Amino acid sequence: MKKGIIKNVIVTGLISIMAVGLAGCGNSATKKEDTGVLDSIKESGKLVVGLSADYAPYEFHIIENGQDKIVGFDVSLAKEIADELDVELEIKEMDFDALITALPAGKVDMVISGMNPTEKRKKAVDFSDIYYTANHGILVRAEDTDKYTNFSDLDGLKVGAQLGSTQAELASTLIKDANLQLLSNVNNLILELKSGKVDAVVMEVGVAQMAVKNNPELAVGKPVYEETDSGNAIAIAKGNEDLVKIVNGVISRITEDGTMNKYIEEATILSSEAVEE
Ligand code: ARG
Repeated sequence: MKKGIIKNVIVTGLISIMAVGLAGCGNSATKKEDTGVLDSIKESGKLVVGLSADYAPYEFHIIENGQDKIVGFDVSLAKEIADELDVELEIKEMDFDALITALPAGKVDMVISGMNPTEKRKKAVDFSDIYYTANHGILVRAEDTDKYTNFSDLDGLKVGAQLGSTQAELASTLIKDANLQLLSNVNNLILELKSGKVDAVVMEVGVAQMAVKNNPELAVGKPVYEETDSGNAIAIAKGNEDLVKIVNGVISRITEDGTMNKYIEEATILSSEAVEE
């Protein structure tokens, strides 16, 4: 298990290194003012997908044969879409709060990053159909599990959430006078929780479960906020109905034939194994 912790630190380090590396790269998804995004994907032979790879089992880093790799069920879904379009897939890692603006700026062709199609985001971008739904909860230190039964038990405490996420909004509506610590990277939130800098992190339940597998000193807390009218969808720059239609076709095909469930299971296993070897 000690190994797991060390690996996590290595992974977090790699994320930072990658982020620096990416900042220096040029954009391969060019600005799509004249042609639509679909045409430019076909022209370049490449689908550029933006995501924040700090979110197992959706998207996360693993070391495979000594190589850093981004995997997860969002990545498998991205690959299905690239295959459907008959182009290569390029993953571009970004901070979660930079993803939406990357779309109209033409830095990425689509965002697949466990993102909820909120009304606010819909003003800036279009969304595909929902491909996955989940509930939200909290991640706590294992010894504190019984301390918090409701979100209101966190009133006035130090609570972490990802910057720009719906969990950050949830934290500010469900918890009174919370001392909110909003960070760009979920892995850093986990470190803050372990070191006692925050008392809880508002997180999607499935993502919190993965964090616990890799950090046995943590636990998924009791409070659960059920998402009734939301879920996760793919974001695409406005005015690309042709591309949205193709993406929706892929989502419905792989949902109906069970492929999506297989990807979710695979990603769950992979993210638990990532620290066990
Ligand atoms: N579902 C939340 C939202 O849409 C959080 C998603 C965070 N995704 C990530 N890859 N870190 O705001």
